[in-house]
Amino acid sequence: MQHKDIKKIIILLGIPGSGKGTQARKLVERYNYTHISTGDLLRALDSDPEADPVDKQMLEDMKTGHLVADTLIYKLAFAEIKKQLDDNRGVILDGAIRSVEQAKAYHDFFEKEDVLDDVLVIDIKLDNETAYRRLTKRKICSDCGHIIPFSQKNEDIMTCEKCGGVLTVREDDNDETIKLRLEEQGEKMIAPIAAYYDALGVLQTVDGSLDIETVDGTVIDVLEA
Ligand code: AP5
Repeated sequence: MQHKDIKKIIILLGIPGSGKGTQARKLVERYNYTHISTGDLLRALDSDPEADPVDKQMLEDMKTGHLVADTLIYKLAFAEIKKQLDDNRGVILDGAIRSVEQAKAYHDFFEKEDVLDDVLVIDIKLDNETAYRRLTKRKICSDCGHIIPFSQKNEDIMTCEKCGGVLTVREDDNDETIKLRLEEQGEKMIAPIAAYYDALGVLQTVDGSLDIETVDGTVIDVLEA
């Protein structure tokens, strides 16, 4: 199906559990863009036996709910974004920016790649209580990465409805680490980044508390406006 042209670089902001990954996956299907989640890149690095041990050491911060070093994020994310842009593909950046400092580094990178005019930022707003509830009940397919929302129907399922893969719980989705993530990476962290993009005139905000399809519809409206 043909869709309206949208910006090439879509940045999803939002606290842990706000639905960045869920929405990113829906946008990828609709627009045939590439989903770049820095969390997924870091988890892939963790499970790669050939990865640089120095890089791997930096992942200890992620496992305990803290941010990892900027240098590792830039190394992983910029290479992946550049590859996609060189292939003339758009990207959905999911959780890739966690501080104003990072936002500025991405800005410089986009400027160098001559794509500054092609950036749109969507901040998915959610309160901590709802995010906590979602994260404590999240299941993820170990094969295709499908994210399972909590519902009575899904409460006892052990295999993925899409591919039959085994459902798992993320290492950082335990009570203590979720609380720390929401404290360190919650609205306190997001607000200054959103303000930075607002000042650049590229920020849009959507209500992440509504059901998944409604949020998706709002995001599409924002992208195609
Ligand atoms: P990352 O993997 O990005 O985790 P996160 O930011 O904590 O976000 P989550 O993936 O937990 O949540 P989400 O917003 O994607 O929500 P989801 O769609 O799954 O990062 C992990 C770690 O890596 C960080 O803690 C940090 O250590 C490190 N890191 C990553 N990037 C970094 C960077 N740039 N700098 C430094 N460190 C970095 O939804 C959650 C649940 O809710 C799911 O079950 C879903 O089905 C459900 N759901 C979603 N939307 C709805 C809805 N509308 N209604 C009902 N349920 C919903």
